[in-house]
Amino acid sequence: MAKRILVTGGLGFIGYHLCKCLLALEADAEILVVDNLSSTKLDYSDLIGRLEIVVHDFQALPDDLGEFDEIYHLASPVGSLGILEKSGKIATEILDLAAKVGRIAKQGRSRLLYVSSSEVYGRDGQHRESAEQMVPCKRGARMEYALAKLTAEHLLLNLAADGDFELKIVRPFNAMGEWQSSTIGFVIPKFFEAALAGRDIQVFGDGRQIRSFCHVDDLVNGIVHVQALGRNNQIYNVGQPGNIVSIEQLAHTVRHLCGSKANIVHVDPVSLYGKHYIEAFDKVPDIRKVIDDTGWRPTIDLAGGLTRILDHYRAISGEFGTAAAPGLIDA
Ligand SMILES: NC(=O)c1ccc[n+]([C@@H]2O[C@H](COP(=O)([O-])OP(=O)(O)OC[C@H]3O[C@@H](n4cnc5c(N)ncnc54)[C@H](O)[C@@H]3O)[C@@H](O)[C@H]2O)c1
Repeated sequence: MAKRILVTGGLGFIGYHLCKCLLALEADAEILVVDNLSSTKLDYSDLIGRLEIVVHDFQALPDDLGEFDEIYHLASPVGSLGILEKSGKIATEILDLAAKVGRIAKQGRSRLLYVSSSEVYGRDGQHRESAEQMVPCKRGARMEYALAKLTAEHLLLNLAADGDFELKIVRPFNAMGEWQSSTIGFVIPKFFEAALAGRDIQVFGDGRQIRSFCHVDDLVNGIVHVQALGRNNQIYNVGQPGNIVSIEQLAHTVRHLCGSKANIVHVDPVSLYGKHYIEAFDKVPDIRKVIDDTGWRPTIDLAGGLTRILDHYRAISGEFGTAAAPGLIDA
């Protein structure tokens, strides 16, 4: 019998690339994607006909979706601006979705992989999975998101403890790649779209914030490695510690790559987006655990990742330097 795979949030940025990876690896599998297209939509026409797509709120579907050998749960409110719009409702949504996917995993005795977030670390620094969790004394949408992602991990770990399904958790650090959306707040597409259109490239604050970006192809490869080779009930950082960059440096690099004359300006995000906005922590992954357990390693450096993204913008924009991202459909 063909392997059955469920991907929630499979029409989002990471989910779309994960689906393409699964289609390449699992030629005979039956793959069901559930996505309500609540984030900015990307052009997923190349997936149509190759897997089953249900455009629906996952939470509102009945639990008896069938039995799945593998489940990848990615559906979630996402993005610094995407979560701002849902402030006060983020936690309920993340936890309800986690409880539901847990019930479906239990029903099919599935191998469930939950895509959590490095936001759960709640502080600056290089992070190991074994570190104590900290709850910073900050208030805002980002805290609600981080704490809900952490609580969802515990909810699923507790449900899986009875042995009714297998669970692995991945904490992605900052991702980058083709089709990432600027409209929900991700910095790399925002910088590319501004640079290519000759608009001001807006750096938040002094620009000294540190990020380490992992290309989405490396990230989804890490996710499938954890699903296949990770230990049960374990949490794995997946990211690229080699790609550390400050936001100021990133702005200059993107402008240079694009051959753009756009101005780099410093802005206060709180004045733009209100008091619920909190800047992300400076986070770098410690990836020793995922390397030791699965052999996965990231391979794409920052320059290589940014060049792929620029090539993508060129491909979807026609001529270099014209409209920012015509392939993206507004949500
Ligand atoms: N992008 C990153 O840098 C990053 C970092 C850490 C963690 N993550 C996690 O990775 C996952 C995917 O993130 P992404 O960057 O691809 O974001 P995304 O917004 O592009 O993808 C999420 C998808 O989930 C869908 N969705 C949301 N709520 C849903 C619901 N109730 N029912 C059905 N579909 C629903 C959205 O329509 C969207 O297509 C999320 O769980 C996110 O928390 C992302």
